[in-house]
Amino acid sequence: MIVWRMWSVFCIFVFSGLEDEGFEMLEELAYLYLANNKLTSAPKVLPPSLISADFAANQLTKIYPYTFGYKPKLRSVYLHNNKLTEAGLPDHMFNGSNSLEILTLSSNFLRVVPNNLPPSLYRLHLKSNKLEKIPAGAFDTLSNLRELYLQNNLLSNEGMDNDTFSQLSSLECLDLSNNNLSVVPGGLPRNLVLLHLEKNAIRSIPGDALTAVRNLEYLLLHNNKLRARSIHPASFMGLKKLHTVHMYNNLLERVPRGLPRRAKTLMLLHNQISELGRNDLALLYTLTELNLSYNKLTSPKVHRDAFRKLRDLEKLDLSGNGLHSLPLGLPRSLQVLEIKNNQLNSIPDGALTGMEKLQKIILSDNQLKLNSVYQGAWMELSALTTLDLSGNQLTHIPSDLPESLEYLHLQSNRISAIPESAFEGTPNIKGIFLRFNRLSVDAVDESSFAHLSNLQVLDIGSGNKRDDLEGDEDEEET
Ligand SMILES: *[C@@H]1O[C@H](CO)[C@@H](O)[C@H](O)[C@H]1NC(C)=O
Ligand SMILES: *[C@@H]1O[C@H](CO)[C@@H](O)[C@H](O)[C@H]1NC(C)=O
Ligand SMILES: *[C@@H]1O[C@H](CO)[C@@H](O)[C@H](O)[C@H]1NC(C)=O
Ligand SMILES: *[C@@H]1O[C@H](CO)[C@@H](O)[C@H](O)[C@H]1NC(C)=O
Repeated sequence: MIVWRMWSVFCIFVFSGLEDEGFEMLEELAYLYLANNKLTSAPKVLPPSLISADFAANQLTKIYPYTFGYKPKLRSVYLHNNKLTEAGLPDHMFNGSNSLEILTLSSNFLRVVPNNLPPSLYRLHLKSNKLEKIPAGAFDTLSNLRELYLQNNLLSNEGMDNDTFSQLSSLECLDLSNNNLSVVPGGLPRNLVLLHLEKNAIRSIPGDALTAVRNLEYLLLHNNKLRARSIHPASFMGLKKLHTVHMYNNLLERVPRGLPRRAKTLMLLHNQISELGRNDLALLYTLTELNLSYNKLTSPKVHRDAFRKLRDLEKLDLSGNGLHSLPLGLPRSLQVLEIKNNQLNSIPDGALTGMEKLQKIILSDNQLKLNSVYQGAWMELSALTTLDLSGNQLTHIPSDLPESLEYLHLQSNRISAIPESAFEGTPNIKGIFLRFNRLSVDAVDESSFAHLSNLQVLDIGSGNKRDDLEGDEDEEET
């Protein structure tokens, strides 16, 4: 078996000399590497012994019928990063090449999906072309295709129909992201596992578009124009394997109805959700991660029972909303709670009670004062390792820190003193961050930290009186 490797421009010289028949004479040629050259057209004839051909990153505009046709052993053809249009491809490019499994045609100038692709194809790359439409029947024979990449084209719903994908009975991964779809297409094949529809202009999900796709596990719909009312409530019915749904960066005004019952991860950030009703989350029993950051939630519009059924929830993100008060009734299963960048001025009595699994709570950039937080709130959190209260209005270090605490973020508050006893109850602490407070040199008593044998970072740094605020009497506070 001869393995040919031709990388350099010098080799092209040789190649030009060989002309077309040159390759045909290499009767045992199996692997042909001509990637990263300056070829403008492919050899007219390649030998039937060929197994793999790599012409990626050339300037090809023309392929001939016997370039890749009549190669019974041909398994892979790489043609990405060339200048191919449909005019440069023969109508039956792979006649008699019925072992082809991998074909890459990404980053060319195709407007139409090539015809007559061999049924043996396993993976087909057509991303970053100029595809506007997929001709009827283009994929009908590809019953072995597992992966189809069509992202970054100009496909619209008008350019395909209900049958475009329906015969792809082995297809598991379909990427239609970054196209011009306005509706989730119908007729999707039933064995799909992963469906990329992000970065389109999708406004609606019809009731029957997804329900046949019984094996769907990942549905990516972020960066579209979905509103909750244009998602049919039966859209996800029966999709028992669907565990990950990304709908961030849409126009959702509330949590859509009928979300998949077995969802584990729900990314709803960057929408316009202004309300969490009592039953909006009530059927999502298996949810472990809910990200509602950067919406328009306000405290009066979050029902106190809204989270009651989320008994497995581990991560909740409510950052970047308009909450004034930490919601009551959060699941006790929580391990990570992020509510930064709101207007929190209250952690009401009992809001954190029973959260024995909570390891990390991020409450930075709010309006919390010492008395906004009920006495003993932190002490109860027996698994807590990270408490972030930076960017609030605290004047003292909280006195009820839990023993488990490892990282305490208090930068950008109004703390002016560190009492000797401040860290008596936190022997495990590794990092204390106190930059940008109102500490003066004599307010920091070294003995407060002396017993903390695990302490790795003590950041009092700049922005305190130690350096640059010396003598600034206005900053004095009780
Ligand atoms: C490829 O096969 C088709 C259908 O069998 C035939 O019409 C066509 O002439 C063939 N093309 C070549 C280049 O052999
Ligand atoms: C596609 O499916 C929709 C809904 O099932 C149906 O209304 C429409 O007639 C179908 N169109 C075609 C071309 O089959
Ligand atoms: C996207 O599709 C719409 C129709 O759905 C069409 O009006 C618009 O021109 C298309 N945009 C591009 C960039 O193809
Ligand atoms: C929510 O999503 C944002 C964006 O992906 C991410 O940065 C953040 O960490 C997520 N929140 C949680 C709690 O995982």
